[in-house]
Amino acid sequence: MDLNSAKILVTGGASGMGRAFVLNLAKDGADVAFCDLSEEGIRAVEAEAADLPGKVVGFTANVADEDDVIKLISDAHEALGGLNGLVNNAGIFRDGLLVKKDRETGAIKKMSLKNWNMVINVDLTGPFLCTREFAAKMLETGTKGSVVVNISSVARHGNPGQTNYSAAKAGLVADTKLWAQELGRYGIRTGAIAPGFVNTPILQGMRPEVLEGMLKAVPLRRAAEPHEVYQAVKFIVECDYFTGRCIDVDGGLTI
Ligand SMILES: NC(=O)c1ccc[n+]([C@@H]2O[C@H](COP(=O)([O-])OP(=O)(O)OC[C@H]3O[C@@H](n4cnc5c(N)ncnc54)[C@H](O)[C@@H]3O)[C@@H](O)[C@H]2O)c1
Repeated sequence: MDLNSAKILVTGGASGMGRAFVLNLAKDGADVAFCDLSEEGIRAVEAEAADLPGKVVGFTANVADEDDVIKLISDAHEALGGLNGLVNNAGIFRDGLLVKKDRETGAIKKMSLKNWNMVINVDLTGPFLCTREFAAKMLETGTKGSVVVNISSVARHGNPGQTNYSAAKAGLVADTKLWAQELGRYGIRTGAIAPGFVNTPILQGMRPEVLEGMLKAVPLRRAAEPHEVYQAVKFIVECDYFTGRCIDVDGGLTI
């Protein structure tokens, strides 16, 4: 796909990697729609993108809400005069051990059902709803050649403390494979990216000594910058023979 003819929707585009995807795609000539929860963040990214070659338009939408997603796909399609790409980027985490025994009191702490559901709703149900509505729009409009990029995580391999997040991110890679099989006949490609540690507000909020310890496990000894993950997004969008695979952009963390 030529980025100059790309019309791409990015979810969670007001912060971190999503913001970098929106701005870089527009810099490379694509027209971009994006959604997020905060109106303020959306307007800030739109303002930043004002002078870029591609058009950028933001919408308030919760990817875990079916009605929001149905409206979002329709609004994005209308605003860009078509749609042929989707980046499922919006994501959250609510870390905690499945169960934990307090050394002193013996009290058992459990991961709450609320924290399980919150993460599954945003990180797995969100991409399900967005991809379903996007694919339906591709069929309805007879769009030839389109692409879905799912942002997974190294946690897809199973990361202690992330029962909810690991399940969602592994499920997203499984769906990337089966969507490639189900949707290939309609000319819809799917790809996933599993980043390791990326320099976004999540990481910037960590205690420096904790971060330093985590980065020691990375062969490249540093976190990725968002634009380095964007390079994988760009590859998946541009390479018309790529589908059903996950690219690990993790500095060698999972070798
Ligand atoms: N930062 C990392 O180290 C890292 C590593 C691997 C994977 N990831 C994944 O990359 C993606 C982006 O992460 P980030 O670090 O840029 O996070 P971030 O918190 O900076 O940005 C995520 C954006 O998604 C938005 N969002 C959250 N819930 C939403 C919802 N229900 N509907 C719409 N928008 C919603 C947030 O408001 C925010 O703007 C996530 O899926 C995350 O799991 C991040």
